[in-house]
Amino acid sequence: MNEVRTRVVIVGAGPAGLLLGQLLTLEGIDNIVIEQRSRDYVEKRVRAGVIEHGVAKLLEAAGAGARMLREGLVHHGVEIRSDGVSYRIPLSELADGRSITVYGQQEVVKDLIGLRLDAGAPLYFDSEVTAIDGLTNGSPVVEFEGPEGHVRVTGVVVAGCDGSFGVSSRSIPRTETRRYERTYPFSWLGILAQAPPANDELIYCRHENGFALYSLRSPSVSRLYLGVPPDEKLDDWSDDRIWHELTTRLATEEKPEINVGPILERGITAMRSIVIAPMRYGRLFLAGDAAHIVPPTGAKGMNLALADVRELAQALSAKFTDNDERLLDAYSATCLERVWRAEEFSTYMTQMLHPSYEDDFENGIQRARLHQAVTSREATTLLSRNYVDLNSL
Ligand code: DHB
Repeated sequence: MNEVRTRVVIVGAGPAGLLLGQLLTLEGIDNIVIEQRSRDYVEKRVRAGVIEHGVAKLLEAAGAGARMLREGLVHHGVEIRSDGVSYRIPLSELADGRSITVYGQQEVVKDLIGLRLDAGAPLYFDSEVTAIDGLTNGSPVVEFEGPEGHVRVTGVVVAGCDGSFGVSSRSIPRTETRRYERTYPFSWLGILAQAPPANDELIYCRHENGFALYSLRSPSVSRLYLGVPPDEKLDDWSDDRIWHELTTRLATEEKPEINVGPILERGITAMRSIVIAPMRYGRLFLAGDAAHIVPPTGAKGMNLALADVRELAQALSAKFTDNDERLLDAYSATCLERVWRAEEFSTYMTQMLHPSYEDDFENGIQRARLHQAVTSREATTLLSRNYVDLNSL
């Protein structure tokens, strides 16, 4: 059996685990990253692609922003469409000049993996964690099985960055944490298409048939989503049906068509909210999806994960350089305040934009809320600030 010693054992090489590793490496704090999946898998996992202003700055400060600055698309506004009528939200004007960057999550992951491998920092792919022990007494020990065989890592702290199905959150006894959960009566059918974006800005659309979202990845690749019933099967959606439904929902009088093209990727994602509190158990600290899930409307998931990691890296730096654990002790409460704000915003966006298939009273309220969001300067300003930089406010 191989024995390894380090300070911070990071479980999961998604954006959270990789950025934490990078921030710690910059501070001279040794760490290892263990990932269950292959490098190819994590580099191709398509997720939302909207990076908040402050989170883009964080990636830059971590030395991971070069390609994002070159290839990312900076947006100063978004469009909201409701039953064929279009409203522009001037994000930057209402949020002190700040903007969002459209840059795929898997591109962030690729950039961070590249940096880590260039720095020669340890990163184990295809490695399954089989045990996490010693979280409340002695030193934490994480064991994993991978291409190198069985490895036993002794650390000082474990960072659980392995998502909501990961082993980290499952290592916390049920009596030691509370799980808050909500499901929504919708899923999102998402596609990546070889089609030039027909619009310069993202479009969030409420239509009586359901929600639609128009996003993009590059001048030749569009990313689009349809709100569908929760138990919908991907097999029931032919390419023609997908394009027909997207066109119907997104159409306005001035822009009745969208650009279509070959579908490169497709998937259905259920919508839910989860918050695990506290985000700590002894020497284990959870970050990102391991601790919370938000519904996708508003694209807060990765932004929230990277904001957790900024907090955790600072707290670990204070511990290892100044032997000061106050920030670590405050970590969970500090993050949870932001997490609940993100839950509130994501729920607000979700409920405003997804018509109910059965409750017309709810639909009346949604229309009123949407109308206020696009016509009241106060409401539009709050939406803009939350959209552009919720995690830095
Ligand atoms: C995207 C995803 C989102 O959830 C969102 O709110 C906006 C954009 C995207 O994948 O581009």
